[in-house]
Amino acid sequence: MGRSAPFFLRHGGDMLEEKIKRVLEEFRTDSKGTASPQELRNKYFGRKNGMVTLLMKELQLVPPAEKPVAGKQVNELKLALEAELDGLEAGSASQALAERLQAERVDVTLPGNRRPIGHSHPLTLVRSEIEDIFSSMGYWVEDGPEIETTFYNFEALNIPEHHPARDSQDTFYISDTLLLRTHTSPVQIRTMQKQRPPLRIICPGKVYRRDNPDATHSPAFQQIEGLAVDESLTFRDFKGTLEYFLKAFFSQKTKVRFRPSYFAFTEPSAEVDISCIFCAGVGCRVCKTSGWIEVLGAGMVDPAVFRYVDYDPEKYTGFAFGLGIERFAMLKYSVNNIQYFYESDLRFLEQF
Ligand code: DAH
Repeated sequence: MGRSAPFFLRHGGDMLEEKIKRVLEEFRTDSKGTASPQELRNKYFGRKNGMVTLLMKELQLVPPAEKPVAGKQVNELKLALEAELDGLEAGSASQALAERLQAERVDVTLPGNRRPIGHSHPLTLVRSEIEDIFSSMGYWVEDGPEIETTFYNFEALNIPEHHPARDSQDTFYISDTLLLRTHTSPVQIRTMQKQRPPLRIICPGKVYRRDNPDATHSPAFQQIEGLAVDESLTFRDFKGTLEYFLKAFFSQKTKVRFRPSYFAFTEPSAEVDISCIFCAGVGCRVCKTSGWIEVLGAGMVDPAVFRYVDYDPEKYTGFAFGLGIERFAMLKYSVNNIQYFYESDLRFLEQF
């Protein structure tokens, strides 16, 4: 090789052209191997020692006259490798995407996870069912406060002070004249005060009594009060209505019996029994072998009550009743401890 040979052909003891060829060949081999496009880019274009980078640096040593040719050759190498690397990178990106799509594949035809949905509490179920039965007979629902006055809870229901009926309902007093209602009967009075007959209402709600909790008692429980007032309601309407209701709620086979009783706000008063739903009247532990179970108190509205609300007792008659929702639920679902209704135990609640 004479001294006149172009510098870049002599540079480094190797002709630049040779170097370019070798780099290209090496790249061809590399690109068929296992190196990732990222590794290849580093090997050929790394900022310090990339093979193409070094060639570009060598260009600076080439005499100006030879630069255009040398520059063009190195540049062609650079463009060619870059294009190939771009292609390899695109290929590996789409392969990575394909792999990811496969790995994260979602089978949209699989059934979804069912979330458990709640349902009404058994006491709510019973209350709704009773409301439905009475609604079908033209009754509507009325509401009253749980904190009552002695007037509505007792006096207007014909239970004056010192009347023994006040003692029989052990009352939570808030003050001399305020209390937690012991029954839903005060809603009768409140409704009659604001409305003239005809009246057909039921009044569900919480009531409170100073009872110790046990299998059949709770200091807070729920009642439904019923009241019908019209011009010609008779004892037959009273009996027929309650019989219809009890058969609809328990079963058409249920027998209904009215026993004389006493309530201050009804006259005559009755306690109503149904034939035992556990032994069909034969006699068992639940009905204490009598074949009958007491389910509610009722009667014809006492004229004294009408006077408190300015209804003319000569013109209007009515009947009323009161029942415990827990008791109805216990009978309907064969629950032998009232406390289960208040414990929020899912093993119990899930059965309804
Ligand atoms: N208020 C009574 C109680 O809590 C139940 C009752 C009995 C309501 C007779 C009435 C009725 O309306 O006529 O024990």
